[in-house]
Amino acid sequence: MAVALLLMCYLATASSEGAPSPPERIAVVGAGIGGSAVAHFLQQQFGPQVQIDVYEADSIGGRLATITVNNQQYEFGSATIHSLNLHMQDFVKLLGLKQRREVAGKAAIFNGEQLVLEETDWYLLNLFRLWWHYGISFLRLQMWLEEMMEKFMRIYKYQAHGYAFSSVDELLHSLGGERFINLTRRSVAESLLEVGVTQRFIDEVIAAVVRASYAQPLTIPAFAGAMSLAGAQGNMWAVEGGNKLVCTELLKLTKANVIRARVTGIALLSTEGKMLYQLRHESDGGHGLDTYDMVIVATPQYQGGSNISFENFEPSVVELPGTYHRIVASVVHGYLNSSYFGFPEPKLFPFSSVLAADNPDLFFNSLDNICPVNVSASFRRKQPQEAAVWRVLSQRPLEKPQLKTLFRSYYSVQTRDWAAYPHYASALKELPPIVLHDNLFYLSGIEWAASSVEMSAVAAKNVALLAFNRWFQHHEKIDQKDLMHKLKTEL
Ligand SMILES: Cc1cc2nc3c(=O)[nH]c(=O)nc-3n(C[C@H](O)[C@H](O)[C@H](O)COP(=O)(O)OP(=O)(O)OC[C@H]3O[C@@H](n4cnc5c(N)ncnc54)[C@H](O)[C@@H]3O)c2cc1C
Ligand SMILES: *[C@@H]1O[C@H](CO)[C@@H](O)[C@H](O)[C@H]1NC(C)=O
Ligand SMILES: *[C@@H]1O[C@H](CO)[C@@H](O)[C@H](O)[C@H]1NC(C)=O
Ligand SMILES: *[C@@H]1O[C@H](CO)[C@@H](O)[C@H](O)[C@H]1NC(C)=O
Ligand SMILES: *[C@@H]1O[C@H](CO)[C@@H](O)[C@H](O)[C@H]1NC(C)=O
Repeated sequence: MAVALLLMCYLATASSEGAPSPPERIAVVGAGIGGSAVAHFLQQQFGPQVQIDVYEADSIGGRLATITVNNQQYEFGSATIHSLNLHMQDFVKLLGLKQRREVAGKAAIFNGEQLVLEETDWYLLNLFRLWWHYGISFLRLQMWLEEMMEKFMRIYKYQAHGYAFSSVDELLHSLGGERFINLTRRSVAESLLEVGVTQRFIDEVIAAVVRASYAQPLTIPAFAGAMSLAGAQGNMWAVEGGNKLVCTELLKLTKANVIRARVTGIALLSTEGKMLYQLRHESDGGHGLDTYDMVIVATPQYQGGSNISFENFEPSVVELPGTYHRIVASVVHGYLNSSYFGFPEPKLFPFSSVLAADNPDLFFNSLDNICPVNVSASFRRKQPQEAAVWRVLSQRPLEKPQLKTLFRSYYSVQTRDWAAYPHYASALKELPPIVLHDNLFYLSGIEWAASSVEMSAVAAKNVALLAFNRWFQHHEKIDQKDLMHKLKTEL
């Protein structure tokens, strides 16, 4: 009711002024990939005259971050991007950046005693081996993933035609109908069993992949599970110089005002029939207040998360339920203890990645021999007996004895504690809303469907289109049904 009244006020003011003008000032909270991308897309939609202020409490890039070891930089947060992630590909082209060359490496799954699944160089042999081990499960998984990816890719077409969705459910429904929405509500294990993947394959292979990407068990939603499995299929890339360059360069291109401050509150102000949002923010330089026509919240909202309070909203903007999952990244420069993995002779250890099987006794989730963000043509991976840079992801900080188990010896260890992804078990029957108020949008809720760099970019484009379509009342471009069919006949 209150929303309807506000909307009527707003429609009245807009029409009394003739052709509506674009918003004058927009605030974006958070300069991760979500915030940087939305600043860029908002400018594309509304034009260069709109002032866009981007607030960042910590560092530009957010969960895209690098760490320096021995004068070389390495990815500390999100490391890889799928080849079908088209927004990220577009950004790299637009910004004149390069995709980093992939350095081949093999992976294996470790169950605490031995390596249970080893990847070989030869793709066919690999396939044969998987077939021999797991039979039809492997093919069923491939088909399931391919169908999902194909449907997911529809989003790029919808967005290219300016269509937006007012909720994550609407967005998913337009891509894959009710089935897609169901994939956010049922576990990945359940969904795979249903398409005929065997329990054994799920327990031995899928569990390790899901654990390495989301640090959580097979109870995570099928949609998120599919995203992590797609990542395990190969065809991954990264940005030369570091993934976070996409954020810094997008903000430069947009000429957004980057304000180094933490936003602590957003209040609704109503002056002279005009609705404005007042942002409270604080930094070392003190406190500040600024007003905006539109605000995009591009950082996760959860209890104990970014702590933004919403004031004067009627109905109130409620605190969103759920928590985020902690992951510790340790970047270790040292000598791997290959004995621990059953290879007493270091030279013979052939793997560059080890995923932990679903065994609660294992104190790490994954271990990767990582390459610097700048890889020259002559770069080669370190031999297994040489000192190398490894990234270990674990639930808790690694203790000395654990480090001594994984590494014969090491020169340095640097750690970072991440609030990494939604803790899916703490959910949420419903996915979080996108529209918090007329011109106040929440971008990061999409992570409850799946958390990845590209999902944030997709959400950014959706929010920019939604904000634009709502501002200029292009209602026909919001939540359109049957878009697949509509776009086919329109073209
Ligand atoms: C260890 C790790 C590995 C990962 N691996 C991958 C991977 O391989 N592939 C992949 O696709 N994804 C991966 N992810 C997930 C991916 O990093 C995230 O989904 C994505 O980066 C989220 O981007 P975002 O912009 O939505 O959020 P964030 O990057 O979290 O950005 C939010 C920003 O808002 C700022 N902020 C927060 N509160 C406030 C406030 N009150 N005021 C102002 N600023 C504020 C934060 O400092 C932050 O910079 C990984 C994540 C982690 C942690
Ligand atoms: C989605 O889930 C609901 C509830 O479990 C079920 O009734 C419905 O048949 C499912 N739809 C599809 C298309 O799977
Ligand atoms: C790393 O790559 C980035 C992007 O291509 C480039 O700007 C930078 O100069 C490179 N750094 C080194 C040390 O080669
Ligand atoms: C948010 O508030 C909680 C509890 O008041 C606090 O523990 C947490 O550190 C705060 N988060 C940030 C990012 O300031
Ligand atoms: C390496 O692993 C083996 C086997 O688990 C273990 O006995 C040894 O203590 C570990 N550490 C070193 C430094 O060899």
